[in-house]
Amino acid sequence: MTNSIDVQAQEAANKPQKILVAYFSWSGNTTRIANVIRQQTGGDIFEIVPQTPYPKDYNECLDVARKEKKEQARPPLKAKVENMEQYEVVFVGYPNWWSSIPMPVATFMEAYDFKGKIIVPFCSHGGGGLAQTVTDLKKLCPNVPFVKPIAIAGNGRNSLSSDIKKWLQETGIVKQ
Ligand SMILES: Cc1cc2nc3c(=O)[nH]c(=O)nc-3n(C[C@H](O)[C@H](O)[C@H](O)COP(=O)(O)O)c2cc1C
Repeated sequence: MTNSIDVQAQEAANKPQKILVAYFSWSGNTTRIANVIRQQTGGDIFEIVPQTPYPKDYNECLDVARKEKKEQARPPLKAKVENMEQYEVVFVGYPNWWSSIPMPVATFMEAYDFKGKIIVPFCSHGGGGLAQTVTDLKKLCPNVPFVKPIAIAGNGRNSLSSDIKKWLQETGIVKQ
């Protein structure tokens, strides 16, 4: 995360911005993280919801997600963000799925023009960290600045609020 486009993002983040927190979550961990970010930034929130829900059974969900990743599927979403133009900073949250992003997040990224905006990824994972998620996100919107992402194991437990606070201060998005 040290190339020039990321540095620009850090600098640009150093002033008050209109913020959107967009996220996809299957089992609720990313939802919890997204809500903490919303509380601490005062941003608006948007849940990325595919038209066809994923199976509730973990192993079935694994299979569907693996197939979608292989095919680079773009599952249609239930809703669009109103007035995306107004946002300058867009947090994009997701669980690590097969070391990449869930495909509904790819559908979301391709649905908007992020030119002039800053992307801030956040990822919930089961031990694999960010893996390829940020690399894969960047491929979907080249030339858009990214701010240093955060990876949270599971739902972040008790230290979630302070971990998010520290990260937001480091990025310059929240001052104190
Ligand atoms: C389809 C699927 C694939 C997953 N693949 C990975 C993985 O490759 N690496 C990892 O660390 N965790 C993986 N996980 C675990 C999730 O990233 C983790 O449970 C996360 O906290 C779930 O977030 P959520 O509650 O917002 O859905 C996977 C979970 C599912 C359902």
